[in-house]
Amino acid sequence: MVSPSTPEWVRECSKDWAPAEVVEFESHEGISAFLEREANADRVLCSRIDSDDAVAETYVEELQKSATKDQEWLVFPNGIVWGNGRCCELQGQPQNPFPTLVDIRPFVGPYCVQHNALQDFAPIRRVSNRPAWLIHVHENNILNSPYLLDRGPEVSTSEVAARFHIDRKPEKRMKRVELINTLIERNSFRNYLEIGCAKNKTFNQVQAANKVGVDPISGGTVRKTSDEFFAQSKETFDVIFIDGLHHWEQVLRDVENGLAALSPKGVMILHDCLPSKEVHQLREPSPQSRAWTGDVWKAVVELRGWPHIDVAVLNSDWGLGVILNRPNTAPFTLDKKIEDLDWNWFQLNSQTALRVVDQLDSFCPL
Ligand SMILES: C[S@@+](CC[C@H](N)C(=O)[O-])C[C@H]1O[C@@H](n2cnc3c(N)ncnc32)[C@H](O)[C@@H]1O
Repeated sequence: MVSPSTPEWVRECSKDWAPAEVVEFESHEGISAFLEREANADRVLCSRIDSDDAVAETYVEELQKSATKDQEWLVFPNGIVWGNGRCCELQGQPQNPFPTLVDIRPFVGPYCVQHNALQDFAPIRRVSNRPAWLIHVHENNILNSPYLLDRGPEVSTSEVAARFHIDRKPEKRMKRVELINTLIERNSFRNYLEIGCAKNKTFNQVQAANKVGVDPISGGTVRKTSDEFFAQSKETFDVIFIDGLHHWEQVLRDVENGLAALSPKGVMILHDCLPSKEVHQLREPSPQSRAWTGDVWKAVVELRGWPHIDVAVLNSDWGLGVILNRPNTAPFTLDKKIEDLDWNWFQLNSQTALRVVDQLDSFCPL
């Protein structure tokens, strides 16, 4: 079963699943209508539909071999999760994820019961001990990504792609340099400002006629803090990349000052909006992790409520916040103070609160 947001490469793989019919559903009502229509079918093989999209190597075959005339859950405990450009193996979860019911009437589909209540409906049988499936976590279920990807040993994406016959890299997403250069090229932009340049890794690769880089310590062209720079600069910029001090209140100041210096059709990009672990988003960098996003994400939550700008976050390269100079098309209302937001809140709410997208097309043509 696939849904409207299922990526094309998953649909391609599903063509190899014959003899199973792959059906697209938009809602539970659609599933009910399908089951009505197929009321005379012997069996319905149904993957869990809230596990995001799954590509199963031996799934249909194994199911058919294992199917009996008695109702039971067939569970594939071992598989691989692919999300955010990483893969890891999930092992030994007896009921979850990817349970499947070989259903003999009356129908009780996996979506009808809680995953931890499967055994109340029918006995559970483990089908395979080797990784049997691949789950691709994408936009609609991206919250599962950090959760699932921290659960098992990492495996190489190229090995997994080969094994599941995925011949192109799924969802190549733009990183910051590509995004900035695409914006500059497609819009014939000339003036670029980067706040926080460090070793000029991004700054040197940006192709703009006029580049200004601000950093109090290294890189760029202006040796000042962003506050000092904005206090005296009168220049206007078409693209402003904010990657300086990763504290939410500083990011908000940089955005506010940046908006005053942004050309009418200009775009602002914020780096490090999507930490994948709690340790990344502490106020100060931790010796336990090389990556540090700080709490930039909290600034994005605040900005998502501002009426005069439109903000979304591209789920790539640690989260690329994109700010447009137009009225907010999907305002987010925060019901508490920014100071009270924590990692638990982020995990539960980030998808909506930060308006996380896998591709920018739906938010803005580049
Ligand atoms: C993550 S690094 C920037 C990386 C760079 N943009 C890139 O893509 O390679 C952050 C930089 O912000 C600088 N920085 C820290 N506080 C700042 C401030 N108040 N204003 C501007 N830059 C600041 C640091 O010196 C550091 O070089």
